[in-house]
Amino acid sequence: MEHLFINIKSLLQVREPGSEILKGGSMSNLPKIDMAFLHIKEDKIIDFGSMSSAPDTITAEVIDCSGKFILPTWVDSHTHLVYSGHREDEFADRIDGLSYEDIAQKGGGILNSAKKLQATSFEKLYAETEVRLKEIMQLGTGAVEIKSGYGLTSDAELKMLKVIKALKDNYTLPIKATFLAAHAVPKEYKDQKGTYLAMVIDTILPRVAKQGLADYIDVFCEKGYFDLEDTERLIKAGQKHNLKVKIHVNQFNSFGGVKLASELGALTVDHLEELTEDDVLALKKGTTIPVALPGCSFFLEIPYTPGRHIIDNNLPLVLASDFNPGSSPSGNMNFIVALACIKMKLTPEEAINAATFNASFALDLQDKVGSITRGKLASFIITKKIPSYRTLPYAFGSNCIESVWISGQLIS
Ligand code: NIG
Ligand code: FE
Repeated sequence: MEHLFINIKSLLQVREPGSEILKGGSMSNLPKIDMAFLHIKEDKIIDFGSMSSAPDTITAEVIDCSGKFILPTWVDSHTHLVYSGHREDEFADRIDGLSYEDIAQKGGGILNSAKKLQATSFEKLYAETEVRLKEIMQLGTGAVEIKSGYGLTSDAELKMLKVIKALKDNYTLPIKATFLAAHAVPKEYKDQKGTYLAMVIDTILPRVAKQGLADYIDVFCEKGYFDLEDTERLIKAGQKHNLKVKIHVNQFNSFGGVKLASELGALTVDHLEELTEDDVLALKKGTTIPVALPGCSFFLEIPYTPGRHIIDNNLPLVLASDFNPGSSPSGNMNFIVALACIKMKLTPEEAINAATFNASFALDLQDKVGSITRGKLASFIITKKIPSYRTLPYAFGSNCIESVWISGQLIS
C-alpha cells in the first residue's frame, strides 16, 4: 500500500541516511521542509521533499495535511512497561510525607511490584502490558525499550522477558528488551546480596542469553541497591553473553558509576539526576550516551538531570519516559518533551532531537527510526492544525496529535 501525504505545513527532522548522533550545539538544529510531501510504501519512507517536486502518482492514497506538521514518532529508550497492578497507595504515602527510600524500606517499591508480578500469569501480564503499549503508541511512541526487573526470580524474570518477546512478535514497532534482574535485592536474599548476584549471573543470565530474550543488560547502581563492584560484575557478565549495557545510575547519589559505565563501554547511562563535574568529564572521554528521565524527577520531586549543562559540554542527550509504576507512571513522551523544555531549559528543537533522532542511537535503531529519512520505517506523528511545532511542548496539557502512523500503518 502506498500513501502520499501532501501540503504538509512543515516536515520535521529530515535527515540523510547515516547521520551521526547530535552533540552540543548541533542539537539545536531541527532540519525541516516547509510545504512538503511525504511518500510511503508498505512500511517504509520512500520519498519526501517540497510540494513543488511532489510525485504525480495514481497508485498512492493521497492525504491532505494542510496546516499540519509531520515529525517522526518518539523513540522511548527506557521503560518498565511490563508490570502488574499499581502503586497508588505508595503515591498517597508520599503525599503524606514518606520518601521513595522510606517506602522501599517498608517493603514497598520495586519489591512490592515484584511480589505482584510473581503472582501474575503470563497471559494476564501480557494483557496488562499490551494496554500500556497501545496507549503509548497512540501518544506517538513508535519504538520502545522494555526492561525486566520486577521478577527477581529466574521464572518471573523469564516471564517478563517472554511477554516482551510476544509483544515483539505481535507488533510492528521496534521493541528492544533489557535484562534488569539486578533491580533490587529480593526479600529472600536480604543481607545476601552476593548470593543473589551470583544467582543472577550464573543461573538467570545464561538462560536469558540462550533463549535470545534480551538485547541489553541493566543494573540499578545506587546506594542501598547495587554498588560499583556489583555493577562491574554484572556489566562484564552481560558483555560475555554479548549483551550491550544500559545502566540506572546517579538517580539519588553520584559515586563513580558513570565513570565505570563509560570505561566499560556502556551504550547509555540513564537517570543522572545527580551529576558531578567528574561524571561530565567521564562522559566526555567516552562514547556512552546520557539519558535523562524528567518524568521521574517530576513525579518523585527530585532534581532534574542537568540536561542544559550536558548539552553545553558538547555531549549528546536523550530523553525517555522511564514509564514504571513507582517513579514515573506515565509513558507520555509529549509530556517528557515539555518537561525537558520547562524544567531542564532545553529548547523545543533540542528536546525533539533528544526524543527522536538521538534516542534512536540509544536503542541501536538509528537505521530504522528517529528521523524522516528514505528507507527508514514510515513511523510518524501528524499534528492537529497548530500554529508552530513549538506548540507541542508549549501547550503541555493539550493533545496536539491528530494521528500516528507506525511502520506504514495508521494507529487507531
Ligand atoms: O527507573 N530506579 C529504579 N528503577 C525505576 C523505578 C522502579 C520502581 O520504583 O518501581 C526507575 O526509576
Ligand atoms: Fe528506570
